[in-house]
Amino acid sequence: MLPIVYGVGTCLLLWVTCLHPALSFEHKWVAKDSVSVEDINEDFHQIFTGYKDHVDHFRFLLEEGNFMLIGGRNKVYNISLMTFKEDEDRRLTWKPKVSDENLCNSKSDPKYQSKCQNFIQVLGKIDDGKIYVCGTNAFKPKCRSYEYKEANYPIQIPEYVSNHEELGTGKSPHDPEHNSTSIYTGGKLYSATSADFLGRDPLIMMSENQIILRTAQHDSNMLSEPHFVSSIEIDDMIYIFMRENAVENINCGKATFSRVARVCKQDKGGQYEDGVWTSYFKARLNCSLPGDIPFPFNELHATSSFSQGNYMPTKDNHNRTQMFYGVFNTPDNSIQGSAVCAYVFDDVHKAFEGPFKGQRTAQHNWLRYPLDQTPSPHPAQHCVNDSKTLPDDTLKFIREHPLMDTAIAPSGGTPILIQTGMQ
Ligand SMILES: *[C@@H]1O[C@H](CO)[C@@H](O)[C@H](O)[C@H]1NC(C)=O
Ligand SMILES: *[C@@H]1O[C@H](CO)[C@@H](O)[C@H](O)[C@H]1NC(C)=O
Ligand SMILES: *[C@@H]1O[C@H](CO)[C@@H](O)[C@H](O)[C@H]1NC(C)=O
Ligand SMILES: *[C@@H]1O[C@H](CO)[C@@H](O)[C@H](O)[C@H]1NC(C)=O
Ligand SMILES: *[C@@H]1O[C@H](CO)[C@@H](O)[C@H](O)[C@H]1NC(C)=O
Repeated sequence: MLPIVYGVGTCLLLWVTCLHPALSFEHKWVAKDSVSVEDINEDFHQIFTGYKDHVDHFRFLLEEGNFMLIGGRNKVYNISLMTFKEDEDRRLTWKPKVSDENLCNSKSDPKYQSKCQNFIQVLGKIDDGKIYVCGTNAFKPKCRSYEYKEANYPIQIPEYVSNHEELGTGKSPHDPEHNSTSIYTGGKLYSATSADFLGRDPLIMMSENQIILRTAQHDSNMLSEPHFVSSIEIDDMIYIFMRENAVENINCGKATFSRVARVCKQDKGGQYEDGVWTSYFKARLNCSLPGDIPFPFNELHATSSFSQGNYMPTKDNHNRTQMFYGVFNTPDNSIQGSAVCAYVFDDVHKAFEGPFKGQRTAQHNWLRYPLDQTPSPHPAQHCVNDSKTLPDDTLKFIREHPLMDTAIAPSGGTPILIQTGMQ
C-alpha cells in the first residue's frame, strides 16, 4: 500500500498527522515516505496499491505540481495529488534484461530472489518531457534517460522511450531496502547510497556524464555505516540528512548520531585528480530533552521539507524563518521513544561557520579544533569559486576534519513533541 496520508490543512499539520503515534507500534513512530498536500477541495478515497501479488518497495521520487512520481517494481507511477488516480499513459516500465534477471536468480539466496527486479530509486527531471531514472536492476544498478513521446503516427500509444543507458553504481542502491537518497539538479545527480551490495562502500557522490566526485572511500571519518534519510538543495549547496555511527563517541561506546552533511554544487575537486569532494562537511543534529541528564533521541528517521515557518505551528505569519522538522527515535536497545525537533536554518549555517572537531592521533578523543589553527579562509563557511586552486594544507585539513564541533540545537532548545515508553 502506498504510505500516503489523507488530510486537509497546512503542510505541518498533515505531516504531523502522518506521524501520529496511534499509527505506530508501541512507543515509536515509524518513518514512511510521505508527501504533503495543501488545499484539497474534495475528499478523496482513492487508494493506489500497485502490484497486489509482489512487494513494490515503493519509493517517493519527485513531487511536480499536482503530481507525484512513485518508483516501484519495474515501474514509475505518475499519480495525481488531487485525486490519487494514476495517469496510466505516463507510466514508465523498465524491467531488467532477462539475462540480468536469470543471473541474479542463479546467484542469489532464495530470500533475495524477489529482489531480482528493477526497483526504481532515482528520478530527476532533465527538462520538459525528459527524465533521468536509476534502478536496482536485479542488484546491478543502471540509469537511463527517457523521453516522453506523444502518440503520433506511426507510434500508436504515448510512452516513455529510452535513448541512453549507463551504469548506476553509486547512484542507485543495489537493494531497494537500503536507505539512500538522491537529488538531480543542474544536470548533475547527487546520490547518497552504497556503491556495493553489502553496504560497505557508502558514499555521497556527484555524477555528471563521466565526471565523478565522492566522499573518500573506506574512511569512517567521512561516513560510518550511514543510513541516508533525505536530501535538499538550498542555494549553492546540497544538504544530506542521515544517521551514522558516531566516530567521535567511540571512547564512550558505540552510538548512532544524526547529521546534516553538505557539499557545494560548484565543487570541482582538488588540484589532484582524485575525484574527492573539497566541500564535504557534516554537523550533528541534537534532539534531546534538556535536564541534569539530557535524554537524547539520536536516530533521525525523516525530515520535512525546508520552508518558511515558526518554531511552533501557529497561524501567525510573523517572525517566520527558514526551518525544517526532523523525526527522531531512540535506539532499539534503550527506552523506546520518538520526538519531533524543529531546526532553524541559521543555526545550521552557524554550525558550519564554527570550529571543527579534530583528533590529535587515532588514539585521542575528538575535541574542538582551535579556530586560530584552522586554515583561512574557513574551509566550510562558503563555497569556493575554484576548488582546484585550494592549497595543499587546506585540502589536507578538509580531508581530516569533515565534522563540525557544534551540535545543532533544536529551536526552543527541546523537542516540540515526544512519545516515550515512560509515559
Ligand atoms: C505526470 O502526469 C501529468 C499529467 O498527465 C503530466 O503533466 C506530467 O508531465 C507527468 N510527469 C512526468 C514526469 O511524466
Ligand atoms: C532503513 O531505515 C529504516 C527506518 O528508518 C529501518 O527500519 C531499516 O532497517 C533500514 N534499512 C536497512 C537495510 O537497514
Ligand atoms: C544536546 O542537547 C541537550 C539538551 O539541550 C544538551 O544538554 C546537550 O549538551 C546537547 N549536546 C551537545 C553535544 O551539544
Ligand atoms: C522572533 O525571532 C527572533 C530571532 O530569531 C527571536 O529572538 C524572537 O524571540 C522571536 N519572537 C517570537 C515572538 O517568536
Ligand atoms: C567568486 O566569484 C564571484 C562571482 O563571479 C565574485 O563576485 C567573487 O568575488 C569571487 N570570489 C573569490 C574569492 O574569488
